[in-house]
Amino acid sequence: MLKQISDIVIEAGEIVKKGFYSEKDIKHKGEVDLVTEYDVKTEDFLKDRLHKLFPDCTIVGEESNYNASDYPTEHVIFIDPIDGTTNFVHGVPFVGISVGIMTEKEGRYGVVYNPILNELYTAETGMGAFCNGQQIKVSTTATLINSLIATGFPYEKDNLPYLMKILEDVLKATRGIRRAGAASLDLCYTARGIYDLYYETRLKPWDMAAGLVIVREAGGIVTKLDGRYHDMDSDDLIASNGLLHVEFLNLLNEIK
Ligand code: IPD
Ligand code: CA
Ligand code: CA
Repeated sequence: MLKQISDIVIEAGEIVKKGFYSEKDIKHKGEVDLVTEYDVKTEDFLKDRLHKLFPDCTIVGEESNYNASDYPTEHVIFIDPIDGTTNFVHGVPFVGISVGIMTEKEGRYGVVYNPILNELYTAETGMGAFCNGQQIKVSTTATLINSLIATGFPYEKDNLPYLMKILEDVLKATRGIRRAGAASLDLCYTARGIYDLYYETRLKPWDMAAGLVIVREAGGIVTKLDGRYHDMDSDDLIASNGLLHVEFLNLLNEIK
């Protein structure tokens, strides 16, 4: 099944790749939240093909459901056709197609593909996580001061003072912070041990669903920002190699 999902996502990658190197028709979902015809085309393609493979699953895709406020948690496929649309529009090659499939309440399959850099991340619960077929593992960094952290910022800017305070304290406590602009790939880079920890707030289920399976299968842990287990019922998350989790939670607790 994972191979069949991956083949569909790789095929969708051709649409994204073509769009990446072409003129795009850009529309606004919000002041800085963009969508192009390639987001819509890719989502339509994925919905059509994945529905044939999983006829009993509800499909929740960003471009069809971005106004929804609650989502099914079982037998559901979460699709982000282009994660990193701002990167896509500006020509930054950090864009991912993200497909997360939850057969029960837990994620079962996660596939994230960056067609520009040709990186395919795949995982199935209990079977390990892979990048282009090679098994991947989280890092072994054990202290924040030796760690590289990733984060992102929401399109809505109402919570900036709190986020800036976290940013300041995380910057002081770590080797550095990256904001690459695609949550699904930030999770994959954490799974691959490139980032030691990634946190973000105000995410949507299609940003997280696939990456959560991939991080956990790579040996990492994912919780909400308050430290409780993340089962897709929260819009914030911390994904780490496990070794840094408590130190990071303590840092956040000091900010509150
Ligand atoms: C966004 C990206 C970004 C994250 C935002 C997401 P989009 O997704 O994942 O890294 O910081 O919160 O909304 O809009 O490019 O699919
Ligand atoms: Ca996204
Ligand atoms: Ca998107």
